[in-house]
Amino acid sequence: MQKQVEYSEAMKTKYPEQVVIAIAKDKNGKANPVTLGWTMTASGKPAMLAIAVAAGHYSTGCIRHSKCFSLAFPSSEQGEAALFFGSRSGRDIDKLAEFDCAAEPAEKIDSVLLSDAVANFECELESETVVGDHVIFVGRVVCSHINTEAKKRLYTIGPGHKLGPVS
Ligand SMILES: Cc1cc2nc3c(=O)[nH]c(=O)nc-3n(C[C@H](O)[C@H](O)[C@H](O)COP(=O)(O)O)c2cc1C
Repeated sequence: MQKQVEYSEAMKTKYPEQVVIAIAKDKNGKANPVTLGWTMTASGKPAMLAIAVAAGHYSTGCIRHSKCFSLAFPSSEQGEAALFFGSRSGRDIDKLAEFDCAAEPAEKIDSVLLSDAVANFECELESETVVGDHVIFVGRVVCSHINTEAKKRLYTIGPGHKLGPVS
């Protein structure tokens, strides 16, 4: 049986939700990481990943400018980094300079990878669609990486950006 409730009430049932960190460079070459929960696999062949970024976020301009982004699956040990990258704006600070988080250059796009993430994907911007207050960016995966150590992924496990692993 179902009962009708407000949208916000029903959406509280969505957890756990995967967490990703997208990174794109701004026009000055600063790599700007942003934490995102709204993401999906958008195509299998060719492989494409999609992210929904608020229209006003600094990252939106970075992705539009560089026409590519890397997408990291942060590990369960990277919760603090995910909260930092997801609460501060690249408009005000250099997030990767201020938060001690190992990064390395991407192989095929002009961005960086998070060295301690579970996996990283290099994406060339395929399309963008403005949807309400967000922009859905679809990236074609041109290179994929996994960590040489076994690590668990990071999820949002409850409202209020409560982050952790899922067993
Ligand atoms: C766990 C978590 C999930 C988030 N998911 C999204 C998301 O899916 N889309 C989005 O636009 N912002 C999301 N945010 C908020 C942005 O990461 C945050 O506003 C960030 O500071 C924007 O940075 P920027 O201005 O450098 O782009 C999320 C934040 C956290 C902590």
